[in-house]
Amino acid sequence: MGERNKVLLSALFKKAHEGKPITWLTCYDYPTAFFQEQAGIDMILVGDSLGMTMLGYDSTLPVTMDDMIRHTQAVRRGAPTAFLVGDMPYMSYQASTEDAVRNAGRFMAEASCDAIKLEGGVEIASRVRGIVDAGIPAIGHLGLTPQSVSSLGGFKLQGKGALQAKKIIDDAKALEKAGAFAILLELVPDRVCKLITERADNCLIMSLGSGPYAHGQLLIYHDMFGLYPKFKPKMAKVFGNAGEVILNGLRTYASEVVSGEFPGKDNYFGMKDNEYDDLLEMLD
Ligand code: KIV
Repeated sequence: MGERNKVLLSALFKKAHEGKPITWLTCYDYPTAFFQEQAGIDMILVGDSLGMTMLGYDSTLPVTMDDMIRHTQAVRRGAPTAFLVGDMPYMSYQASTEDAVRNAGRFMAEASCDAIKLEGGVEIASRVRGIVDAGIPAIGHLGLTPQSVSSLGGFKLQGKGALQAKKIIDDAKALEKAGAFAILLELVPDRVCKLITERADNCLIMSLGSGPYAHGQLLIYHDMFGLYPKFKPKMAKVFGNAGEVILNGLRTYASEVVSGEFPGKDNYFGMKDNEYDDLLEMLD
């Protein structure tokens, strides 16, 4: 791909109006960001899922703002033109609107983000309003919201029943009214996603495991490439098994070191004889 212009909010809405799906992936490091930029991915989310995918925790809850800022800065260096979204970690916005605005501001000022994302519905609408009033674009996140995984009863489909689905639809409206320019629906039934997309007035609806009736799709990078060893969610499609390639490479490396096959002639450097002789003299 050649040079592309910075992906702006207006370009995302233009795509949606033209019926062109928006591409969105998670990313947590510089080299992966570089590849995503080359592939022309529209949006990148530095998710607090990095707690699980990169730091090895069992949940996203231990992730701090400082963790998020450090990884987001690296991603921005690798992907200068992608629309970059910072994910507000646990307890960076729940306690007060003041916290929410201050931490959202850190993503923008310290990591050059284009927007932030936060989890929850009507109960966090005031936080969304505060952030948007501070001039920071905000994305809501409904359905399976990993920071509330204990109260949701695990990583499972949300909104299967009519009552719960109605609550998600109401939450989406509350977020849109509060000023969110986009809402991510994670693991809700496809028809619930479709109803929300049809009812959105000026809000992009993004799907993660919620089917095709949205303005765009998000996937967790590690799930796409077999890079998360603990489990593979059903909703994730594996686009290439990089995990297997890496594991095979590591095993081959170990056996080549043991057998002496590595390093070979191409993998190290010699020294001119005269320099070597001078060196030996110096050592005498
Ligand atoms: O942290 C993350 O990557 C997320 C996705 C699960 C949407 O919030």
